[in-house]
Amino acid sequence: MTTLETAINAAREAGALIREKAATTKQVQFKSSAHDLVTQVDQAAEAMIRKRILENHPEHAILGEEGVAAGVDASKAALEENRSHEHLWIVDPIDGTTNFVHGFPMFCVSIAYAHHQKVTTAVIYDPMRDELFTAEKGRGAFLGNRSIQVSSEKVLEESLVATGFPSGDRGVRRRNVERILKISPRCRNLRAGGSAALHLAYVACGRLSAFWELELNAWDLAAGSLLVEEAGGKVSDTAGSPYDIGVRHILASNGRIHSLLLDELKEAGATGFEEL
Ligand code: IPD
Ligand code: CA
Ligand code: CA
Ligand code: CA
Repeated sequence: MTTLETAINAAREAGALIREKAATTKQVQFKSSAHDLVTQVDQAAEAMIRKRILENHPEHAILGEEGVAAGVDASKAALEENRSHEHLWIVDPIDGTTNFVHGFPMFCVSIAYAHHQKVTTAVIYDPMRDELFTAEKGRGAFLGNRSIQVSSEKVLEESLVATGFPSGDRGVRRRNVERILKISPRCRNLRAGGSAALHLAYVACGRLSAFWELELNAWDLAAGSLLVEEAGGKVSDTAGSPYDIGVRHILASNGRIHSLLLDELKEAGATGFEEL
């Protein structure tokens, strides 16, 4: 079985469980804080995905969010421990757990496979809309069977841009306010839907012109970044350095407005307001 077939099967299988449980009462536990949630469904979905991957690729390593201790330091350490594996799967069983808990229907399964630290296979599955986004390095990006491309806006005034607010650390939310104050008046409008991976998939298919967020983890970004690149877009960190699986501050766009947004983000980061 190819890595793409494995990822699709695992994402659909976990997605069916998530859809089935979406309308039920969830048992919620706190991770690093009361803003950082996990449910039994996150854990069960991750277990399903791990089982499927190891059945088909027993030699491969897996970095999955719910297998890592809570908090930024543990997440960074887990990536460093795993990044040198030749075959590494990077899994977020539910991206958008807060939405899942509240019944806000914007969450997805995100599965990436990286060969020597480069993501080559990406699957993002939205179980509520039954939308399957897939990409393979050098082979384009797809929504179902349809090839997808990023949007064509060239100016911020015509761009729909999204951002997000990390679950764990409220200081980072404050830091993002200044970026919002700069970008929001310049773009057509701003969205914050609460699923980084789905926002990246939406950049890939042109529903969003761009997405940025601070302090994300490898499992939030790995699959979505390949989708955006294969759909003709651009992915970097918020200072403009190329995407790598260790990037935490992300900017993904249709490419045409990338440098305009980078200028805004760099300026916002330089004022010191973010220390508030
Ligand atoms: C979260 C979502 C959210 C983002 C947070 C992430 P999770 O992932 O992507 O949109 O703002 O930073 O942690 O915890 O729901 O998998
Ligand atoms: Ca989480
Ligand atoms: Ca996530
Ligand atoms: Ca998650």
